[in-house]
Amino acid sequence: MTTTFKDIPDKYKIKTLLHQSTYLVDGELKPWKGETAEVYSTISSTEAYKPTLLGTIPQLGKKEAMEVLKSASSAYKKGQGLWPTMKVIDRIKCMETFVKQMKTKREEVVKLLMWEIGKNLGDSEKEFDRTIDYIYDTIEAYKQIDRDSAKFEKNSGVYAHIRRGPLGIVLCLGPYNYPLNETFALLIPALIMGNPVIFKPAKHGVLLISPLLEAFQNSFPKGVVNIVYGRGRVLATPLMQSGKIDVLALIGNSKSANALQEEHPKGNRLRMVLGLEAKNPAIVLPDADLDLAVEECIAGSLSFNGQRCTALKVLYVHESVVEEFNRRFTYKVDQLKFGNPWEEGAKLTPLPETDKPAYIQELIDDALEKGAKIINKKGGETTENYIFPAVLYPVSKDMRVFKEEQFGPVVPIVSFSDIDEPLDDMAESNYGQQVSLFGKNVHTLSPLIDTLVNLVCRVNLNSSCQRGPDVYPFTGRKDSAYGTLSVHDALRSFSIRTFVASKDNEYNNAILTELLEKKTSNFISTDYIL
Ligand code: G3H
Repeated sequence: MTTTFKDIPDKYKIKTLLHQSTYLVDGELKPWKGETAEVYSTISSTEAYKPTLLGTIPQLGKKEAMEVLKSASSAYKKGQGLWPTMKVIDRIKCMETFVKQMKTKREEVVKLLMWEIGKNLGDSEKEFDRTIDYIYDTIEAYKQIDRDSAKFEKNSGVYAHIRRGPLGIVLCLGPYNYPLNETFALLIPALIMGNPVIFKPAKHGVLLISPLLEAFQNSFPKGVVNIVYGRGRVLATPLMQSGKIDVLALIGNSKSANALQEEHPKGNRLRMVLGLEAKNPAIVLPDADLDLAVEECIAGSLSFNGQRCTALKVLYVHESVVEEFNRRFTYKVDQLKFGNPWEEGAKLTPLPETDKPAYIQELIDDALEKGAKIINKKGGETTENYIFPAVLYPVSKDMRVFKEEQFGPVVPIVSFSDIDEPLDDMAESNYGQQVSLFGKNVHTLSPLIDTLVNLVCRVNLNSSCQRGPDVYPFTGRKDSAYGTLSVHDALRSFSIRTFVASKDNEYNNAILTELLEKKTSNFISTDYIL
């Protein structure tokens, strides 16, 4: 797609480059004079296609990785640090200070989301707003957890005051498809529970963190938030090898998660919170409302060009309706508008990874060779930064597009005659995040639902797969996740129950009473935070 500088609305034009010349360590935005990397957008600003230079970021090395580790360790200070021992109410105040400042950066962040990862305007705004809501919801959920623990229990003559405490240093790595929302869905709960964090932005969607650096710096005590730039291998590997990372929080793919996990010398010390890849299927039964199924499968497979871990990545359609489904589905796919992210109605947008169109083309070629056809008119049309979604049918198990997580615009359709076919495939699959089930008859649906809930972690009835609302558990089986992320569950994932126990006798009870009256401990408290 070609565009010109004048076609770009003024407020979205890149007029000045953003040179990120600092990194956040020990509460300081430390200037970086070493190697830098240029950040390009695959969106062109000129008539003849040319990627647009957006700015530069530091390429930090092992030395800086060790520097931030020291900074985070000092903030934790063997559990005595200001942050891990701070009163819950005061940690919440820091978070409120941060979110207040973050809200003022909406325009800058949204603009960078569009340029850096090609997400359309509506979805970029949604990503920002959803993240703000996530932070407020997290604060409320933490207050509730705190209220629930503002008490003493007594069992077998022993009093217990049980709370959730931090785990230690968290290494936080987010994905490029939700560089703000998913990263913050790890970062925010990790922080609020009292853990210091080392955060490296994703490979795309890096500059959009820049407008927030000062807010991070001035909202939290020094060393609590550390932000580094550079290659994952260069920075994350030595951090893991140090054995001092207590939690690996990563949304990305299982290969990187496994590789990093293996670098850690103390397997039992390392906790993990992982959101990984998936190959969510849709199953369209003979009695499904086809228009509804088509609409949901379009949104499910092609929102943000299919670059979502929750995207529908294979559609199983019953043989009795497959012809009609394909006819309606391909018509709708070809109606989808491709354009730059700020263009009205643009549903398909440039792909941020320069090698993605070629990869998708490989999947298409492999499928065609093995007997599938592209059944929509525009399928596979290629431009410099895009490949129009190809709908492939009939897809069989020997094809790469059946096995690999395409994470991009290509939709494989498999027809089935017996429901055991998709069920067996799902049972054999390495993934187990979600499924979309389209149908109406409760006698057919019931046994299916009862089985599917044991193969994945969310069965979406007559709707596409998705993570939200964020209060619901977001997790998966097998290679799709480790741990659960919802507003509430994330707070649990980044903390551990820890308590003070005392035998019920006059001596101890007098001490506890005095502790409570004088409010000298930040941990022992029966105050309610409203
Ligand atoms: O990349 C995976 C995201 O968690 C998907 O979230 O379903 O809200 O797009 P979403």
